[in-house]
Amino acid sequence: MSTNIVWHHTSVTKEDRRKRNGHHSAILWFTGLSGSGKSTVANAVSRRLFELGIQNYVLDGDNIRHGLNKDLGFSAADRTENIRRIGEVAKLFVDSGQFVLTAFISPFAEDRALVRRLVEEDEFIEIYVNCPLEECEKRDPKGLYQKARRGEIREFTGIDSPYEAPEAPELTIETHRYSVDECVEQVLAYLRERGMIP
Ligand code: PPS
Repeated sequence: MSTNIVWHHTSVTKEDRRKRNGHHSAILWFTGLSGSGKSTVANAVSRRLFELGIQNYVLDGDNIRHGLNKDLGFSAADRTENIRRIGEVAKLFVDSGQFVLTAFISPFAEDRALVRRLVEEDEFIEIYVNCPLEECEKRDPKGLYQKARRGEIREFTGIDSPYEAPEAPELTIETHRYSVDECVEQVLAYLRERGMIP
């Protein structure tokens, strides 16, 4: 870290923002294989929250890799840096009084744990988008599994790069067993149960 830098406290606090919004703020961290449905479910939850008047924003792997993280590839070190930066950005969203929904494969348990440690205990909700590899491969919406099987993409998660499934996620959704709407309901029910949204 650089020296001679001092943390500035903001005049409007996270608590001020939450009070005005009338709801909590937290990271909804969707993790799962490519094609498991992270982006689809995160976006559908985002829409529902928006309609309920709940401030939220989606950070999505493909999009962030077009800008903020366009210098990063898919080596283990780059994936770790990808998640570290997203974690820092997500923390800012929590501070801004919003829910931030992140849709990244985030294959390494330690990288996810690092983000968890960045924020307060009740500000990190890990949502395991659990879908078997065979099903993700069957869906193959971007044709990437086919390419990976042909050896045209290296270090593809689930093929020749590992995915460490969460051991104790706050929530697991099974996109091969439930519809998108049902998965959305499961996430909203969880947030209501925890008293995070009205
Ligand atoms: S990670 O592992 O969290 O850093 O990955 P992420 O930032 O979520 O980016 C995943 C999307 O990038 C595309 N893609 C790959 N995924 C996995 N492995 C390799 N080698 C790879 N190359 C490109 C792919 O479209 C992923 O999107 P999703 O939405 O997960 O299918």
